[in-house]
Amino acid sequence: MSGAVTTFLRSSIGRKQLIAVSGLLLCGFLVAHLAGNVLLLVGSDAFNIYAYKLHQLGPLLYVAEAGLVALFGGHLALAMKLTWENKVARGQKYYVKNRTGRGETIMSATMPYTGLIILVFLVLHIIQFKYGPYYSTEVDGVMMRDLYKTVIEYFASPLNTAWYVVAMFAAAVHTSHGFASSFQSFGWNHPKWMPGVKSIGVIYAIAVGGGFALITILLHVKGA
Ligand code: HEM
Repeated sequence: MSGAVTTFLRSSIGRKQLIAVSGLLLCGFLVAHLAGNVLLLVGSDAFNIYAYKLHQLGPLLYVAEAGLVALFGGHLALAMKLTWENKVARGQKYYVKNRTGRGETIMSATMPYTGLIILVFLVLHIIQFKYGPYYSTEVDGVMMRDLYKTVIEYFASPLNTAWYVVAMFAAAVHTSHGFASSFQSFGWNHPKWMPGVKSIGVIYAIAVGGGFALITILLHVKGA
């Protein structure tokens, strides 16, 4: 690794910027995933054909999945390191002890906890759906996975649906704060623009978190 890259990664601001970039890219993935999930409301064939076509991408899909794992993994590892460093710094005597003094708000303080909920959600989510019950169906003479059935079966349970709504709430809180603070990590926190950036973060969080939650509730109603 070149000296400049090592110095960048070792610096706290360099790591913050990597957390910011990976977080924003993950926000982009969520929009694409939400758009795909809307097809669950259109019907079983529409959703199954969409999932089938994605899987037909073969190696390209593996590259995209490896990219996602790298983004999630990198974001998580760097965020954990940052949280730990802040905790250690807070324990030191010279550190200002009150919340506002160390630039922390309720929203920023909850980031590790909402992040943890998202991590647990994600591990279970992939086990439940990607590696979940496998059914087959035939659409227009083509045999494919009936992923729609796997999803509908899962959301038939009110408990599973409630867990998703809670996890989506955590994701909305996490992304609304993360969105605005990513801009701050690049020093783009001009008083003139910051209120606008914060509003965009909140609108994004409500649209995406609320969108996923609404889909789960509608699927519950459909499948119960
Ligand atoms: C309404 C809520 C959601 C539903 C119904 C849903 C549905 C699904 C389904 C059916 C799959 C399996 C796709 C396949 O194997 O082809 C999947 C994969 C995945 N989902 Fe979700 N999802 C939801 C929310 C989320 C959220 C909020 C996140 C992120 C925080 C997320 C992240 C992922 C990831 C990373 C994968 C694996 C992608 C891959 O490896 O190809 N999902 N989801």
